[in-house]
Amino acid sequence: MFSNKDIAQFADLDTPFYYYDLKLLQQTLDACAAAANAHDFHVHYAMKANFNDRLLQSIHATGFGADCVSGNEVKKAIEIGFPKEQIVFAGVGKSDKEINEALDLDIFCFNVESIQELEVINELAQAKGKTAKVAIRINPNVDAHTHHNITTGLDENKFGINSWDLPLCAETLKLAKNLEFVGIHFHIGSQITNLDVYKNLCVRVNEFAGWFEERGFMVKVLNVGGGLGIDYQNPEQQIPDFIAYFQIFADFLNKRPNQEVHFELGRALVGQSSSLISRVLYVKNGKKKNFVILDAGMTELMRPALYQAYHQIENISRQDSEEVIKYDVVGPICESTDCFGKEVLLQETKRGDLIAIRSTGAYGEVMSSHYNLREAVRSSFGQGG
Ligand code: LLP
Repeated sequence: MFSNKDIAQFADLDTPFYYYDLKLLQQTLDACAAAANAHDFHVHYAMKANFNDRLLQSIHATGFGADCVSGNEVKKAIEIGFPKEQIVFAGVGKSDKEINEALDLDIFCFNVESIQELEVINELAQAKGKTAKVAIRINPNVDAHTHHNITTGLDENKFGINSWDLPLCAETLKLAKNLEFVGIHFHIGSQITNLDVYKNLCVRVNEFAGWFEERGFMVKVLNVGGGLGIDYQNPEQQIPDFIAYFQIFADFLNKRPNQEVHFELGRALVGQSSSLISRVLYVKNGKKKNFVILDAGMTELMRPALYQAYHQIENISRQDSEEVIKYDVVGPICESTDCFGKEVLLQETKRGDLIAIRSTGAYGEVMSSHYNLREAVRSSFGQGG
């Protein structure tokens, strides 16, 4: 991924920083767009994965819409230039202020997660003399077979409306004068690598679409969410298999000719196109363990501390041919979970070496924090190696 030229450039830069490979990003976006267009599917980028302006500009230029989960994300999408009819607003806890702002901006639709939220959107729209378009997020009780912290589509999760509440939901929709029902929405979890899971989702989507149609609703939009995973173990597998992914929905969804199928992909679009670049501050050789202490910590990349997530770690100042040693690679934060990897094989590492932590484009920079009064993490852009 990096040429020597890149590393020479990095040598002068202040670390830590996120390096974004804009060439790989564009290749990934193009691959996704081509695979989706083949079926006339619509992709909304899940902005929560990364709202870095430079990335959003490429994503917008590729023609994707925006899936937002806060009022600020909606405003950012508008600022970047996403057309309002391609902006959806999801989230289990939208505030009145956020709903009002989104109503003022005339976005495409609200993905609604509870009956009470339907009532509130109806009231707020009524006060403005507007009609809000809504899609009902249904909890389909489909197991995504991913890390339990990023599973969202089971009965025990807080997301969406459960199937037993749908009769009341349908009644509420029928009575609400300022709501226009446009369709149904699902999202069962993130970092899904077993594509069979999506076949089960399609079966449920078909059932629920049928349920609404039987009650006289026109289901214009089938929004199946996101969740397509990336290969953290092998970051050289740079571009996810979008063709296989979309083919499942083409094969298993009972799509009516007048229906649109929407996707909300985040990680799959941006995950592999970034590495967190950090410098070795100290090396501690102990009796039982050797530690490499980096200038990046859980404040810059929280995933390992939060989900025990695996990210490949490389010493990019050393040659592949050099002998390797096992190190625990840790950050400077005063928390024991501030660890990027245990017993990582690295070439003999010295103070000042540059370390790349791979596959950090999704849920990396956006989940960084100021804990310990750390500085905001920087980003840098290149065209790959
Ligand atoms: N749609 C909805 C309603 C979502 O909640 C999410 C992600 C997505 C779409 C996009 O999912 P993706 O395609 O990126 O898997 N911070 C965690 C991931 C949290 C995902 C939250 N929802 C991580 O670092 O793994």
